[in-house]
Amino acid sequence: MFALGEDFGSMGVSHMFNVNTIHMNTETFEKNMKMLNPEQRKAVETLDGPVMVIAGPGTGKTQIIGMRTANIILKAGVDASNILITTFTEAGVIAIRERLIEMIGTDAYKVQVSTIHSFAQDVIKNFPEKFTQEKMNVAIDDVQMLELVSEIMTQKLENHALEYLTSYGDPLFYVREIKSQIGKLKGEGVSPERFRKLLEEETQKSLAWLEEKRNNKRIKKIESYEEKHEKHIGKLTELAEIFEHYNTLLRERNLYDFNDMINFVLEKLRNDDEMQAYFAETYQYIMLDEYQDTNNPQNEIINIICSVNSHMAPHPKPLQSGEGINCK
Ligand SMILES: Nc1ncnc2c1ncn2[C@@H]1O[C@H](COP(=O)(O)OP(=O)(O)OP(=O)(O)O)[C@@H](O)[C@H]1O
Ligand SMILES: [Mg+2]
Repeated sequence: MFALGEDFGSMGVSHMFNVNTIHMNTETFEKNMKMLNPEQRKAVETLDGPVMVIAGPGTGKTQIIGMRTANIILKAGVDASNILITTFTEAGVIAIRERLIEMIGTDAYKVQVSTIHSFAQDVIKNFPEKFTQEKMNVAIDDVQMLELVSEIMTQKLENHALEYLTSYGDPLFYVREIKSQIGKLKGEGVSPERFRKLLEEETQKSLAWLEEKRNNKRIKKIESYEEKHEKHIGKLTELAEIFEHYNTLLRERNLYDFNDMINFVLEKLRNDDEMQAYFAETYQYIMLDEYQDTNNPQNEIINIICSVNSHMAPHPKPLQSGEGINCK
């Protein structure tokens, strides 16, 4: 395991003890410290400036985030409520919380440990005056999103409007896959309108590919290429229709999904100095576990929260198994 960080900032560590950490179980923390290898230790002991940990599965990345949090509270005198840790799943949140309880006792409940989605949900809840429109609507979770996609697909199947997307077996078997595709598109900020444009471009590309095959004298059976083209574009067209239908239903029923939620928060954060100042003041340290799973809008939210504070620098996204970023 190794820790990367171009700018470790001031290494001068204040040994002041925070009154809020009197109950910290330093015994477990000290025992865990002894188990660290030199690079893990360096990441835990670097309190200021950005730190990035890139390491393989099961090598102690989450452990380092927990220990670094304990160290920040213990050595830098930072209040636990001024630390934000994000991760990808609710299971990840529980795992981090458990480790913190082991090391810092009741202070563990004061550290803000969230998935980025629940962080965004809290932002909407805690700033009702900034999200007046969103407050009128209801957030739907993953299961409700699945139900909505299933409703749309059932309706399309009844109207024989799904020929390509559900070609084998039980057509509703594909609901989960389609839901995930829609989630990915929205997660990368692609609207149904933008997807239509991309589809047009893809159709042109696919037609050019087919034309090339038609002009190839060595190809005898052009039908199989025509079929490939038709299926490829057919699937994308059906996905575009379901995607459009899905967003329309959300609007009509005054609902929004997790991706909309991230986008609402991002949109506000980008333009609202007051909110930016609030987060800059509230979170002196931010650590991200499972960083490789954050998508662009989620990453931008973190970057905005980080970048309003002058003594930290947001990191570029690591390419593969990078996890654990601190940007303050
Ligand atoms: N230096 C070490 N010596 C002994 N055990 C360690 C050391 N570092 C980590 N561990 C242990 O390895 C196990 C895996 O650690 P952890 O869950 O933090 O890894 P991870 O890199 O976050 O895993 P994943 O890739 O699954 O997220 C934990 O039980 C942790 O206590
Ligand atoms: Mg982990």
